[in-house]
Amino acid sequence: MIIGAPKEVLDGELRVSLTPDSAKQLHKLGYECAVESGAGLGANITDADYEAAGVKVVSDARTLWETADIVVKVRPPAEAELELARKGQILISFFYPVQNEALMQQFADKGVNVLAMDMVPRISRAQKMDALSSMANIAGYRAVIEAGNNFGRFFTGQITAAGKVPPAKVLVVGAGVAGLAAIGASTSLGAITLAFDVRPEVAEQVESMGAEFVYLDFEEEQQDGAATGGYASVSSPEFRAAQLAKFRELAPEVDIVITTALIPNREAPELWTEDMVAAMKQGSVIVDLAAEKGGNCKLTKMDEKIVTDNGVTIIGYTDFPSRMAAQSSALYATNIRHMMDDLTPNKDGQPNINMEDDVIRGATIVHEGQITFPPPPPKIAAIAAQKKPEVKELTPEEKRAAEIAEYKKKTVQQVSLLAGGGLLMLLVGLVAPASFMQHFIVFVLACFVGFQVIWGVAHSLHTPLMAITNAISSIIILGALLQIGSGSWLVIVLAALSVFMAGINIFGGFLVTRRMLAMFQKS
Ligand code: NAI
Repeated sequence: MIIGAPKEVLDGELRVSLTPDSAKQLHKLGYECAVESGAGLGANITDADYEAAGVKVVSDARTLWETADIVVKVRPPAEAELELARKGQILISFFYPVQNEALMQQFADKGVNVLAMDMVPRISRAQKMDALSSMANIAGYRAVIEAGNNFGRFFTGQITAAGKVPPAKVLVVGAGVAGLAAIGASTSLGAITLAFDVRPEVAEQVESMGAEFVYLDFEEEQQDGAATGGYASVSSPEFRAAQLAKFRELAPEVDIVITTALIPNREAPELWTEDMVAAMKQGSVIVDLAAEKGGNCKLTKMDEKIVTDNGVTIIGYTDFPSRMAAQSSALYATNIRHMMDDLTPNKDGQPNINMEDDVIRGATIVHEGQITFPPPPPKIAAIAAQKKPEVKELTPEEKRAAEIAEYKKKTVQQVSLLAGGGLLMLLVGLVAPASFMQHFIVFVLACFVGFQVIWGVAHSLHTPLMAITNAISSIIILGALLQIGSGSWLVIVLAALSVFMAGINIFGGFLVTRRMLAMFQKS
């Protein structure tokens, strides 16, 4: 079958859904690829690049839609594209079915199967197809670059012969995918970065990226992300008031505000009010990534940049990923390629829309002429959303009694284990020679002590622990080398085996440690 990527029809959209690299991977799945001439130019990919990767370049959109069995796109299809689609074809694209209900119905009437990239469930297995995340990541990064472009100063502080330059202060509101990318870009440019989110679990991530989490002086039950698939829900009026009071306090201090706060299927919450904008310094910048959903700042104008009377620049662009088209096309095309991978389990170039597969079911909004949106919640989220069993509150006496019972149970277990072990030793001692018993007892004790020590180590310390086991392996190798010259073939074989296995442990340990360290290195 042929997968085809048309040129995006929306004005100013520079991304493309197929790249030469992704085409090479799609070929391995058994597909042929086609692209409309000039589709990749916005992302710096020429027709010749496509041809070199074995992609057929067709002259216009009509021929592309006629040629392709599966059409892959970035933006939701336009009316003109609906005209070109045909029965039995598969369309894979961003679709936003809630906003485009009528269009979805028209595709169902035409018998086109539609998979919406924005409907890929946000579960671990589907991360490689999560185009919302890959685009949000780019938007967050670009928001910082755009802010820097409109901010007349350095991000980082400097002490120069010409004077001291203070670092810029950046506040990121909403630390989801885009917010975290913005925090990463901002801290790496050297700005003092503050961040806030209603989901308290992100505080640790924010701090691990070198930013400061803004805590509120407020006691409220934590938002449980698990029940809402990791998303935020609407805050209580009291919480909101405390949040706004904190922002009011910060407004005169911060130079750049990047707002990314969104709540699924709702208008963006207003978090940066007019009086906060008025309190900001001349030359400050606000980048509102929620502009498409009404903005976190009501002064934001969608797709525009405005400057307020007090000299604050407010950027409401909604095309940040398209402004980095080469990067976003590469990531989006990879997301599509992974989706095709899931759709083609036999790698035979024949897609199988398996409605039993959580990810494919979630993304499929039109199937065989029927609207299949909204999907049932994915099984994993359904498990997360299940209520935790109620835990009965115990009185202090009941707690004490439970502790004593637990202690007694553990003691009985330990005594029986010791008695069993002692008996076993005795039995071995009856038949084994004395010299063997001496070594055997040391060996058993070493196992016991080793087990107790390792068992008590926290999971987070397992990597350093692995480095230490490397040292232990060196002792094993030393012992084995001392024995390898022995006359007995059994000793030689055992010694060689010890060297071999300890070698695996040492080299494997170093390899894993190296990979883990690389995750924290800036290349
Ligand atoms: P989003 O774009 O819907 O929201 C952005 C951020 O705004 C969220 O962090 C949200 O908590 C925050 N927010 C909402 N109301 C706010 C308020 N009043 N004040 C301050 N902040 C507010 O969310 P996004 O970035 O798409 O993802 C949110 C979460 O979803 C992730 O952090 C993660 O937990 C989960 N996720 C899971 C994925 C997976 O498992 N494959 C992939 C991507 C996200």
